[in-house]
This record gives sequence, structure tokens and C-alpha cells, in this order.
Amino acid sequence: MNSFKVTPITPSFAAEVSGIDLSKPLASGIAAEIDAAMDAYGALVFRDQMLGDPEQRAFGEALGTIETSRATVDVEKSRLQDKTLNDISNLAADGTILAADARKRMFNLGNQLWHSDSSFKAVPAKYSMLHARVIPPSGGATEVADMRGAWDALDPEIQEKVRDLICEHSLLFSRQLLGFTEFTETERASFAPVRQRLVRYFPSTGRRSLYLSAHIGRIVGWPVPEALALIRDLMEHATERRFVYSHTWRVNDLLIWDNRTTMHRGRPYDDKRYPRDMRRVTLTDVASTLQQAA
Ligand code: OGA
Ligand code: MN
Repeated sequence: MNSFKVTPITPSFAAEVSGIDLSKPLASGIAAEIDAAMDAYGALVFRDQMLGDPEQRAFGEALGTIETSRATVDVEKSRLQDKTLNDISNLAADGTILAADARKRMFNLGNQLWHSDSSFKAVPAKYSMLHARVIPPSGGATEVADMRGAWDALDPEIQEKVRDLICEHSLLFSRQLLGFTEFTETERASFAPVRQRLVRYFPSTGRRSLYLSAHIGRIVGWPVPEALALIRDLMEHATERRFVYSHTWRVNDLLIWDNRTTMHRGRPYDDKRYPRDMRRVTLTDVASTLQQAA
């Protein structure tokens, strides 16, 4: 029996949650109920949540361990006081819109590629919780794709072929896809590739998911072109519209997705003209996917 209401958006993927105020401390048992809804739907929408940074952070802490290390370039220029929040905006440290040729802006464009947050970290992300503070008049939706549904719909022969593959992920691979190749030595060292399983299994639900991400640049033991051709093919399958929920933002929406079982991307908007200020709290998973059950 839920103490809040969960309304599915599609029968098996994405749901809207109502009847809960996330700016207040969660009553006991609520965090477990949210986890159960996340297991069931992979992504949850909470409307009209008046959260400042401290409230958004407290809600994250109630659900798990917040990921700390920053996954961006020019970290020192972050706009936000609280470094546990990720600045997902088109704004510079002084609050003005990033210049058309700003390095940070080029880098941020990588969020428009389908990815799973922090898949390039040895211990990747669990939930991402994105909150809308300022939105543009049009565009800038966030899309989430169901990687359990995508796995289930794969041809059994392909499932067999990919089930035990290991991929290498790096933040630099996804940026290179867009032609962004200027990294400092420090960035190259801190974003050296890490290995992750291509298929994840979850004992709690008995389901599998494709663990895809724009951060993938290699499959261990495979020639690079053959690997990237397979990854592209899987990406096309996994992001067919039947697996995608597109979230049109309203101010004070909180969207949570499970990075273990979904991919997501931001959609374009007129980012040289309108501010879009989104803030993300990210929870860390418990272990590398290499340590998870096959
Ligand atoms: C993110 C992300 C996309 C968007 O916050 O991790 O990829 O729509 N965001 O801003
Ligand atoms: Mn992301």
C-alpha cells in the first residue's frame, strides 16, 4: 500500500508520482516505496516540488549515497555553492549565458547524446535526480529510454552474442563523438577508460538491462570498428520510440531515472538565448558492474 500515488505513463516504463512533498523529511518507509516504484518503472516524475539546493540534497541523502567527484571539464568554474549538486545549465559562474564558443558549452552538448550517467566511473551512478529551476520557452525536453524493455525485445541470438561482453567507457569517448578532442593531461588522466558489463542483471527484479552509453568506446577483445558498429546497432534498437519517455519540463519538476536500467539525453533548445537551469543530485551504485552477477 503506497502512501503516495503512482500513475504509470506507459504500462511498464515511467510513472508520475503525486501526493508527496519532497521538500520535507521523508516519513519512514517512503524511501523504500520510492525504490520499489523505481524498480517497477525505471523513471519517476514528481511535479510541483519546491526544492532549493539544501532540500534537493537532503532528498538525495534520504535515498542513498551522493556521488561526489565531478564529471565535467573546468570544474573550478562551477556556479553552485554546494558541490554535491551538478550544475546542468547553460550558465557561466557569473550567471550569464555561456558564450557561443565557450569550452563548457561545447562539453555540455555531450548531454544530447544517449548516455547513462557516470558509466565511465568504476562505480557508476544509480539514480539521477534532475530538478528544473528555470526552463526555456520551448525545446529542452529530457528523454529517457527503457534498457530493460530493450533487452527483453532483443533477438535471442543477439542476446546470446552480447550477454557477457565487457565495454570500455570514458567521458572522453562521448565528447570525441562530437569532435570535442581538446583535453588537458589532467583530464585525460582522470577520465581514463573503465570497464563495465554490456548486460546487467538485477537479482531484486530478476530482469536484465542493456548497459549502453555514449561513453562506450571499445569492447574488450574486439577490433574497434566492429565494436562500434555493434554498439551503434544496439543503440538504434534501444532508442526506438517504443522504449522512450520524453519529459516536457515545467518549473519545479523533479525527474528521477535509474542509470542502471535506462539511458537519457537532453534535447536541443535555443541555449544561446534562453537560460535553462537544471540541478542534479546523483546517487552512486554499490559496485562496478564487473562485480555484479552475470
Ligand atoms: C543529466 C543530463 C540532460 C538534460 O542531467 O545528466 O544528461 O536534459 N541532462 O539536461
Ligand atoms: Mn546525463
